[in-house]
Amino acid sequence: MTALSEIKERFRPALANLTADVEAALAMIRPAQDAKFGDFQANCAMSLAKPLGKAPRELAQQIVDSIQLNDLCEPPEIVGPGFINLRLKSDWLEALVQKLVGDERIGCDSVAEPKTVVVDYSSPNVAKPMHVGHLRSSVIGASLCHILRFAGHKVISDNHIGDWGTQFGMIIFGYQNFVDRAAYEADPVGELARLYRLVNQLADYHDAKQKLPQLDELIATAEARITAAEQSGEEPKSLKKTLKKLRGDLDGLRETRQSTESKIRAVDSDESLAALATEYPNIARQARDETAKLHAGDETNRRLWDEFLPECLKALDAVYQKLGVTFDRTLGESFYQPLMADVVADLKSSGLASDSEGAVCVFIEGNDAPFIVQKSDGAFNYATTDLATIRYRVNEFSADAMLYVVDTRQSEHFKLLFETAKRWGYDGVDFRHVNFGTVLGDDGRPFKTRSGDTVGLESLLDEAVSRAYDVVIENDPNGELDEDTRRNVAQAVGIGGIKYADLHHNRESDYVFSWDKMLARTGDTAAYIQYANARTNGIFRKGGIDRKSLRQTNSKIILSHPSERALVLQIQSFGDVISSILTELRPNLLTQFLFETANSFSAFFRDCHVLNEEDESLRTSRLLLCDLTSRTLRLGLTLLGIDAPERM
Ligand code: ARG
Repeated sequence: MTALSEIKERFRPALANLTADVEAALAMIRPAQDAKFGDFQANCAMSLAKPLGKAPRELAQQIVDSIQLNDLCEPPEIVGPGFINLRLKSDWLEALVQKLVGDERIGCDSVAEPKTVVVDYSSPNVAKPMHVGHLRSSVIGASLCHILRFAGHKVISDNHIGDWGTQFGMIIFGYQNFVDRAAYEADPVGELARLYRLVNQLADYHDAKQKLPQLDELIATAEARITAAEQSGEEPKSLKKTLKKLRGDLDGLRETRQSTESKIRAVDSDESLAALATEYPNIARQARDETAKLHAGDETNRRLWDEFLPECLKALDAVYQKLGVTFDRTLGESFYQPLMADVVADLKSSGLASDSEGAVCVFIEGNDAPFIVQKSDGAFNYATTDLATIRYRVNEFSADAMLYVVDTRQSEHFKLLFETAKRWGYDGVDFRHVNFGTVLGDDGRPFKTRSGDTVGLESLLDEAVSRAYDVVIENDPNGELDEDTRRNVAQAVGIGGIKYADLHHNRESDYVFSWDKMLARTGDTAAYIQYANARTNGIFRKGGIDRKSLRQTNSKIILSHPSERALVLQIQSFGDVISSILTELRPNLLTQFLFETANSFSAFFRDCHVLNEEDESLRTSRLLLCDLTSRTLRLGLTLLGIDAPERM
């Protein structure tokens, strides 16, 4: 129970008499923006009054009169157009916090109806090195798994790796033509990644060469359009708009031309690459052929795939180990291949899919593009695999819900997938695309290194830890921490910093990757919260106090100072935060809660004596609040997948 949930329960019957949509009315009861308005504010009277033809202030009074709040709140105040301001009685709040003191869940109830939830996350295409783009899915997905599990759901985390895609054709072709044996023996994945990049680069080169003349034409047309618009006599205001759009288009084309040109230059300027490009003018098609052969069951290619895949998985595991991310299953695309023909046959026989220009498609009204489940060459695709996966997850796991933690750019795919699945009979499943934006560099473009490659994830994680180590040393000028502790703290701050920096943004937004911000000890960072936690632990070390026995004394919580009150009011809202995350699937609500909790703790620690408090019972109460704070911070960080070092 939380104060807000209790207030809502008290309001519920009264509001149910006034509206059919009680939940919407209840949602208008929120924590007050400013402590001078009390602790909570109910804003529902205004919107309820209109349809009832009543004056909002009168309705507010009527609501308040019909609710029993005496034990819980001071007499409610009705202000302005009809806001109801509520302030909790201190003894009620003290009693609530008293319960939290011994509660590992910090007052967060388990869900009434546990569901089986499959969380599909990370899911990289293997045989390509993992880059920073994979960070978001891994970090957001892992944290949602922790939170759903904590709430009482049965969670099955599934890494739906892309292990059957066209990248295998590229590395097979690369392996057969360009492998450096010694390099492969020494570091198979490193060499496979090089082969992938090489084949990709050569294929891109030819593609770029072919596109360049078309691009030039498009640019000439765009320029001509601008000239025509300028001479059109359009009235100035709308002309400005038109020109803005046209110039935007032109800039886009010029940018594309530039990157196309630089792809060409990169190969032409390198003698050996240029020679390979001449030798393999059709490399893209050749790589595609290898993929097709693999899919058709060609023995050699299958043997190579069997050889490469475990190496690729080992490399992935190394990254996951550094990140501290785990999965219950890793059922990749290849796993579903034997089930594909059946899926398409079933879709056809149920009349959902039909032949269209040689391909098999599901047409869903209101969507421009059909959902292609079998290509005209007979190949199954990403869509077919995802449909087979849904069927499998329902049959094998009895999944009630499936969350897909995947880049926003795949929204269209998931929209069509969910619609198709629902029509196919899976309308009882709660499908959610937990979409997220892009990680950007300082220049506002997808984060890249100087050489132009997207940043490799593994080296990024190593860099985070080594930068964090420098920060740890800087913050420990007297060398209080031994070397082992320093290393552990650097690990927690570095990896935690990267995760937190990702999680604290609204997941739908793009964000700019910044080392300085992410490792800072102040501000909305993992380190700030980790330090707040370590500081509370320090109080107990300094006072030589055993926390377990402290909790067991069951001493009374006393709220004597506004900062104490603000701190506990904040902490007791933990359950509200978790329940919002369960519906919105936004870990940033938790980072925000932790940041505010750490801030409230700072204010409390600034304003109130703890170890030096002379009044024995007040001292004990405050120690209990310190303990509660650190348990809250630690639990919150854990749910985000971030370590909370004991001391720093
Ligand atoms: N492998 C895909 C990619 O890297 C993501 C897969 C997401 N999961 C899914 N079931 N489609 O784009």
